[in-house]
Amino acid sequence: MPDAPAAVVIDNLLDPVVHRAGLLAALRDGLTAPQKRLAPVWFYDEEGSRLFDEITRLPEYYPTRAEREILLAHAAEIADTTRARTLIELGSGTSEKTRILLDALDGGGHLGTFVPLDVSEETLRDAAEALSALYPAISVHGIVGDFQLHLSALPDDGARLVAFLGSTIGNLDPGQRHRFFTDLDAALWSTDWLLLGTDLVKDRDVLHAAYDDSAGVTAAFNRNVLHVLNHELGADFDPDAFEHVARWNEEERWIEMRLRSRHEQRVTIPELELEVGFEPGEELWTEISSKFTPEQVREELWAAGFVTDATWCDGGGRFMLTLAHPYC
Ligand code: AVJ
Repeated sequence: MPDAPAAVVIDNLLDPVVHRAGLLAALRDGLTAPQKRLAPVWFYDEEGSRLFDEITRLPEYYPTRAEREILLAHAAEIADTTRARTLIELGSGTSEKTRILLDALDGGGHLGTFVPLDVSEETLRDAAEALSALYPAISVHGIVGDFQLHLSALPDDGARLVAFLGSTIGNLDPGQRHRFFTDLDAALWSTDWLLLGTDLVKDRDVLHAAYDDSAGVTAAFNRNVLHVLNHELGADFDPDAFEHVARWNEEERWIEMRLRSRHEQRVTIPELELEVGFEPGEELWTEISSKFTPEQVREELWAAGFVTDATWCDGGGRFMLTLAHPYC
């Protein structure tokens, strides 16, 4: 008989009513602003998560493979330097690449607890249970929460490694990043560590291809956000009436994902008691994906109270991992 699934503890820091009210208020602001915009959090329903998974396997989408390459090459060194007792992963999703870190930390013999944090309870529970079965000696303590709100509630044993991978940080604009790093710095001791994954500035054609792939998976991922609004809020978006656009903004150094209205249209969102009009060609912003230079990452971390201990890039110089700690 197979072993019973190992016990997994899940704490829920999200008050569902408050959380939803916040999302809806931000959605209303975004859809009534002169430049209409949505928050990336709406992408990730079940289909959206599946499409994102498919994106990570596309030939054009290099970040996932590049980051995995770096983790494979340096996980042992990271484990040896940090000797973490607790690994916390922010925006953990399926925690796929995290297994490389868990293997190395587990091998070092110091690790006791893995703490994945994610907004989606279902994703978190599935990942936590799978990991708990794979690493029976490690206790898994999942947290349903928002990495922009709940950093002060992270468990604390004084030897933590906080992993924030996949360049998820790139979804935040510079002001949001500074607040995030500052909040994280306030939540950590100088004996804790941050492992940060950042995608690097590179040739615009490579970036365009990564966010507008030839199989159209990113386009489907982008349009799926409208299905999510239809499904969750009773809206009547016609996703086919919007075109996927990925634009490299040279000044801001970020990719802008947008949905461009193919013709004039009106959309109703009953849950918000809102009707929104789109002009032909009008664009709805759905995501920014910031790209970084190594110096910039070091400076942004320093400005928020972190000193950089090490940085590693993949062989192609496309992606970077930074190991840092609070300087006081
Ligand atoms: C999950 C935010 C890191 O910005 O590359 C991939 C999301 N959007 N393709 C990214 C995404 C379109 C991804 N992050």
